[in-house]
Amino acid sequence: MERSYYYVRSITSTNTALKEKLRQSADPVFDILSAGEQTGGRGRQGRRFLSPKGGIYFSAAYLLPENTKRPAFLPLYVGLSVQKVLQKRAEQPIFVKWPNDIYANEKKIGGVLTELLEGKSGLYAVVGVGLNVKIETSLFPTALNGRITDLSAVGFHVRDREALIKEIVAETDRFVYEDRVLEQAAFTAAQAFRNVDFLYGKRVTRDSPAGKTTGIAAGVDDAGRLILQTENGEMRVDSGAVEWDEGVLPVL
Ligand code: BTN
Repeated sequence: MERSYYYVRSITSTNTALKEKLRQSADPVFDILSAGEQTGGRGRQGRRFLSPKGGIYFSAAYLLPENTKRPAFLPLYVGLSVQKVLQKRAEQPIFVKWPNDIYANEKKIGGVLTELLEGKSGLYAVVGVGLNVKIETSLFPTALNGRITDLSAVGFHVRDREALIKEIVAETDRFVYEDRVLEQAAFTAAQAFRNVDFLYGKRVTRDSPAGKTTGIAAGVDDAGRLILQTENGEMRVDSGAVEWDEGVLPVL
């Protein structure tokens, strides 16, 4: 997979900028866009993603294969790709908090935002990843104290950001274009998540328009859904906010 890599010192949001390029380009785009800081970084569910200088922020364009059956699996695999690459050099276990937050020491170390858009060349996913490298606590709201961590705290020292970003993207490329996981009806999420599932065995609350449901997280099924054991039996969650009861992150 041939990708062009671009770095800018400051940008509103790498996801937003890359989406704009995809909307306008007549040719297929496989860019990686990375930034030194984001002034309007976006997280999932419309949240802000604080992106001060020093962190890693990038987005990659995925032109989805025409016979993609399960675009919803992509964010899961991006989370797993980030986990896999970080675990190679981290001194502490790195987890994925379903669907795709990255956790270490029970704290959030990074997040993934995946957005779909119809471009002139087909259906694209823009995959954005943000990772804390060395947090300067004064730049974050006190509400996040003790709830976020960084790569330096797990002994992962970033020497070459571009190489690290390319390594993460190459890992996801392998899932999408070589293993073709998005084209398969059956999915091995259960297997892939087994050893890195941060929520496994924890009490979590699912917040949906219909109300809150609490249960014990019991892994991920082959459709990529989170399994919850609730008082009223087993429930499968395919979207929405799920928060670990001891670690609910405030909306910023
Ligand atoms: C989350 O934790 O809710 C997801 C955070 C995703 C942040 C990344 S940083 C690069 C890309 N650009 C954005 O505006 N967001 C994503």
